[in-house]
Order: sequence, then C-alpha cells, then structure tokens
Amino acid sequence: DKAGYKHFMAKEIAEQPAVIGTTLDRYLDAEGRIHLPANGLDFARIDRISMVACGTASYACQVAKYWFEQLARLPVDVDIASEFRYREPPFVANTTALFVSQSGETADTLAALRYCAEQGLQIASLTNVPESSIARESDVALPIEAGVEIGVASTKAFTCQLTALFIMALKAAQVRGTLTPAQIADHLVQLRQLPGLINATLSLSDRIEDVSRKLAEARDVLFLGRGALYPLALEGALKLKEISYIHAEGYASGELKHGPIALIDRKVPVVVLAPTDPLFDKTVSNMQEVLAREGKVILITDAAGAKRAGEGAAHVITLPEIPPALAPILYAIPAQLLAYHTAVAKGTDVDQPRNLAKSVTVE
Ligand code: M6R
Repeated sequence: DKAGYKHFMAKEIAEQPAVIGTTLDRYLDAEGRIHLPANGLDFARIDRISMVACGTASYACQVAKYWFEQLARLPVDVDIASEFRYREPPFVANTTALFVSQSGETADTLAALRYCAEQGLQIASLTNVPESSIARESDVALPIEAGVEIGVASTKAFTCQLTALFIMALKAAQVRGTLTPAQIADHLVQLRQLPGLINATLSLSDRIEDVSRKLAEARDVLFLGRGALYPLALEGALKLKEISYIHAEGYASGELKHGPIALIDRKVPVVVLAPTDPLFDKTVSNMQEVLAREGKVILITDAAGAKRAGEGAAHVITLPEIPPALAPILYAIPAQLLAYHTAVAKGTDVDQPRNLAKSVTVE
C-alpha cells in the first residue's frame, strides 16, 4: 500500500523520521543509555572490525568506518562482499566481522559471512529482516527496524543502518573510554533531534524537484564529498544511476584533480555535499575548481555554508544545521530526493528500475 504516495520510494523516503525514531527506541532507553544485545559485542575485546556488504549497505559501512575510527579509535576495514569472498583475506586476532544487509539474503554477503565463520571470527550482522539467512547465521544479529522496504532503491534502510551504526560506534567509544560520558550524552541528545531535522529537510522536496528538472537533462553527473560525506557522494551517484539511468559517479573531493576534473564542462552538473564542518573550506576549494571550468554546481549545504560559498553555484539547497558527526544521515535525504524527482521527471519506473532486483540472491 503506497499510502497515497505515487511510488513506494516516495513513501519510504517520507517514513524516515518515524522509522529512525523506531531504531533509536530500539537501542536507547529514556535515560539515554545504549542497549546492545547482552550476548553481543564486547567492544573491550574487539581490536578490529571487518565490515562487509554490497551496494548501498556498503556505503553505510564506509560512513561507519569514519565513526568507529574517529569516535572509538577502533580500526575498521570495509569490503564489498563480491570481492571479499574470493580474496579470502587473513585476519588479525580479535577481529569481529560485521555484515550489513537490508534483505539479509544477498548471496555474496552471505558467502562472505560463511567464510568468516569458518575462520572462527565472531559474526555480527545488521539487517532489516530478523528471520533472514544472514541474521540467523550470526552470533549477534541486530535489527535496524526500518519496516518493509519495497522500492528497489534503498532509502529508509540506509538511514536506519546509519543510525544503528552510529549508536554502535558510540557504545564502542563508551566501552573503550575514548569519549567522556558528557560527550556521549551530547551525541545522544543530538541523535534524538535527527527525526525533526529530517522532517525539516523533507519539506525541501519541492525545491529539490525544481533542481531535478535540470538534472534530468544531463548525460553525466558527478557527486563530491569529503570525509564521511564521501560515501554519501557514492550513494547519491548510485541512487541517481539506478533509477534515472543517468550516468553518475561519486568522488572524494580531493580526488577531483587526479582525473575526474577532465570531465568537467558546462554540461556536467556537479553535486557538492558540503555541510559546514572542519573540512568545509577544502571542499569549497574543490568546488571552485569545478566553477573555473564552467561546471554547474548544485551545492548542498547549510545556511552558514550557503553564505560562505553559495556564490557561483547554479543551485544551492540549504539544509538545517546539524552536528558534523550526524551530517551523513541528514545529507542522504537530498541525495534520495534528487534521484527520485529526476527519475520521475524522466518517466522511468522508479520502484522497479530495469535490470535490477530488490534482493540479489544469486552471485
Ligand atoms: O539487501 P542488501 O542490503 O544486502 O542489498 C545490497 C544491495 O543490493 C542494495 O543496497 C542495492 O545496491 C540497492 N538497490 C541500492 O539502492
């Protein structure tokens, strides 16, 4: 049931404030304590996390790597499952393997899990389907509580994965003593504000629809981001190509001059994901390089960022202010809406894009 929306994807994008609230309630109590399963992850004994996933779930892992490393000083490897399973990697002692999958049935992710189980690793997973194969074969199975996701393009599962992963990183920071109780409390208060901020961002949908009409005319689109916004650039590009069939690539802003800048001309829109954070000025200087080559910049930032760097951009989408650590979750929303409205403008089959399946159970 699309509940009055034109597409399941639109409904699932709109559900995000509510389902993220559910994820938060699952893992946090009213006193702001973090609850992960008791039999579960003892971050005091984990020296490394090896995260494995496919597609959008792998971008959630890439964001989480920044969180675990920065907040908890815990080293993380991220692999895409189809490469990992055949590489047969060796592991250092006290590595926990963490598999992230909306469906819990992705063939490559499941095969990677079985490889790690054979190697004797502790197996943890984050899925949206508690009875799925990946959840069942895990030592610690954590749900994301996103509710059924029908659109082939993953939206609410992604932001719920990110929310759960952020809470896990905070728990790791608590146990490892890398953040003070006051710092953790601050993060938790901010996390509780996320649904409201996402709501405010969803109200920019009409503005994003206007920008998308222009984007629909493009042949190629680039997405740029730095730090934890780099995986969001990858996710924005994947979302756009899978439902609008426009060729899109995501790059780390700092990589621009190592090749992709050769693609820029006045016909190439470049979506720049740049919340005001400690890396903002660096991203903006990459944006200037695009503008100098007449690239059409779509700047996604906050009010302070729009003031500092909005000039020259063809379009500025101004999001609410958010603490830098949580920006990757909020910036997923405009990336989803851009892809959605562009696909609608192009008249593609948004919920069932060509050649794609919701759950990839064959390799
Ligand atoms: O069910 P999973 O999370 O394991 O699926 C992984 C990918 O197939 C999935 O995220 C795919 O990339 C989506 N279509 C992206 O929107």
